[in-house]
Amino acid sequence: MNEILIGNIIHAPKFGTLEILSRGYMVLNDGKIAGLYKNEAEIPANYTANAIKHDFGDKLILQAFCDTHLHAPQYPMLGMGMDLPLLEWLNTYTFNTEAHFANTEFATKCYTALANKMIRNGTTRCCTFSSLHRESTNILMRIFEKVGLTGFVGKVNMDRNSGDILTETTEQSKTETLKWLDDCADLKYIKPIITPRFTPSCTNELMDFLGKLANERNLPIQSHLSENTSEVAWVRELHPDCKQYWESYKKYGLFNDRTVMAHCVHSDERERQAMIENGVYVAHSPDSNINLISGIAPVRKMMNEGVHVTLASDIAGGSHLEMYHVLTDAIKASKGKKIQTDYTDEFLTVAEAYYLATTGGAKFFGGGDGFAIGDELHAIVIDDSDFSQPVRELTLRERFERSFYLMQEHNITDVFSAGRKVI
Ligand code: GUN
Ligand code: FE
Repeated sequence: MNEILIGNIIHAPKFGTLEILSRGYMVLNDGKIAGLYKNEAEIPANYTANAIKHDFGDKLILQAFCDTHLHAPQYPMLGMGMDLPLLEWLNTYTFNTEAHFANTEFATKCYTALANKMIRNGTTRCCTFSSLHRESTNILMRIFEKVGLTGFVGKVNMDRNSGDILTETTEQSKTETLKWLDDCADLKYIKPIITPRFTPSCTNELMDFLGKLANERNLPIQSHLSENTSEVAWVRELHPDCKQYWESYKKYGLFNDRTVMAHCVHSDERERQAMIENGVYVAHSPDSNINLISGIAPVRKMMNEGVHVTLASDIAGGSHLEMYHVLTDAIKASKGKKIQTDYTDEFLTVAEAYYLATTGGAKFFGGGDGFAIGDELHAIVIDDSDFSQPVRELTLRERFERSFYLMQEHNITDVFSAGRKVI
């Protein structure tokens, strides 16, 4: 089936580069992008025959967002505990909240609300931490699949340092993980990702098991790295044989080109080099990093050096799941970094942050550059007609730039995920 989308198409094929098609045409073939055209006359006749047209008028057609790190069972505590640093925040709020997901009825209610909120706000691909509970993880995956989300969900593994309320034995962690992988084998759009919570919450035996499992089955991996200075010091005590935090993952086979590591705020040049050499992705979570007083990640340095940077909400360390907020938070954080580095690290432009929130993240899910030919469509349509009244007619680039600062859920009128119109 051929479909043609018509509207103001703006995508980021490269970091810092936008392609803007004023009243342009995008042809889809069975949900996959077949071509982008400046006008109708350019479209090959075999595409136009029997095509279904979606004319979005003067609206903006943008790439949908990728949120490469969030915690679904922290959705109930959004905006809470915002005056505590990481380790205190985990022990005071987070583990208690996640413990409630032993209750599958509660999980169903909460995860349904979360999934709807994400897709309505234009997130179509995500890497998501569940809790350690297998049944609630299965519920989360099925709800995500049903609303049209795509990507990865992980049952969290944590067999130490989490108190009595939220813990599993090493043996339970292993057997529940294996069962969970069987449980979700039939899903099409939401796939499993191996999820050691972070080095302090996993014994060496568990890390070894998870690394072998991920490599035997070619599964992706998500965790946390160098988020907070107390955490980094703790890992040094726990793994005296490792010079740096990342080596505690590497030695168990958990640090490779299928890995996404959240934060990396305190990753120095050596740790960043290790990420490049191993092909590891960074999930930059600026909102969370400020809320938990972790610091500001050196994103400009990472980009200059060639690290794969993606953007993430990290709810509920982050207090917004809307990726347009995270995008502008990344810009603001980068301006803080510029000040912090004596004005040497350049801030992120809107076009650069858009790339990180879309194409940058899409790479982790196998996506190409921008609206790449052959990719399943992930797109949002923005009606910006109720934004503040400008004093003159705006260029498309200006409308694009301010949309991230001004949009709200109701401005996203249509969402396409993996080639399907889901909103
Ligand atoms: N490190 C270990 N667990 C967590 C978590 O839930 N959130 C954040 N931000 N960091 C973590
Ligand atoms: Fe996190």
